Amino acid sequence: MIVLVGFMGAGKSTVGRLLAAKLGLPFTDSDHVIEERADKPIRRIFADEGEPAFRELEHAVIAGLLAGPDAVLALGGGAPGHPATRALLAGVPVVYLRVGYAETLARVGGDQGRPMLARPDVQVLHAEREAIYASVATVTVDTDGHSPEDIAIEVLGALEK
Ligand code: S3P
Repeated sequence: MIVLVGFMGAGKSTVGRLLAAKLGLPFTDSDHVIEERADKPIRRIFADEGEPAFRELEHAVIAGLLAGPDAVLALGGGAPGHPATRALLAGVPVVYLRVGYAETLARVGGDQGRPMLARPDVQVLHAEREAIYASVATVTVDTDGHSPEDIAIEVLGALEK
């Protein structure tokens, strides 16, 4: 199992797919599994049930995925904020894809499908989460100005060490 964490727009899904192809593993995105489980898009889960309910569902889905077959698993940007999820990540190879705030906005700014981006304190959230991602990471890779392919190659190299 290889887990990818990082802020929205870090490239977890794009890089994750490339990594999975290179490693011959399936790729799974926890957000997609959550949407299937809830039978609605994430922005609707936030609107109908609120963020705390989303976080509990997110934790349950990730716990199930981590207990399942080997895969490259991309987590939603807020997932490592859940203490029980962080506990499950101990002992798992976790790749932190780091993205700067300006680059985040350039990549995904204004995306209506990401309700956390609409928060007035999103820059504070970005800063606060850096420490959380770093605390679960076994490997950290900077993504600003790098192509997904180059990032995937760098991750592979770092994981081999
Ligand atoms: C969130 C990130 C999203 C998704 C949800 C909440 C967050 O995933 O899980 O909108 O709190 O940062 P991505 O990081 O894939 O955009």
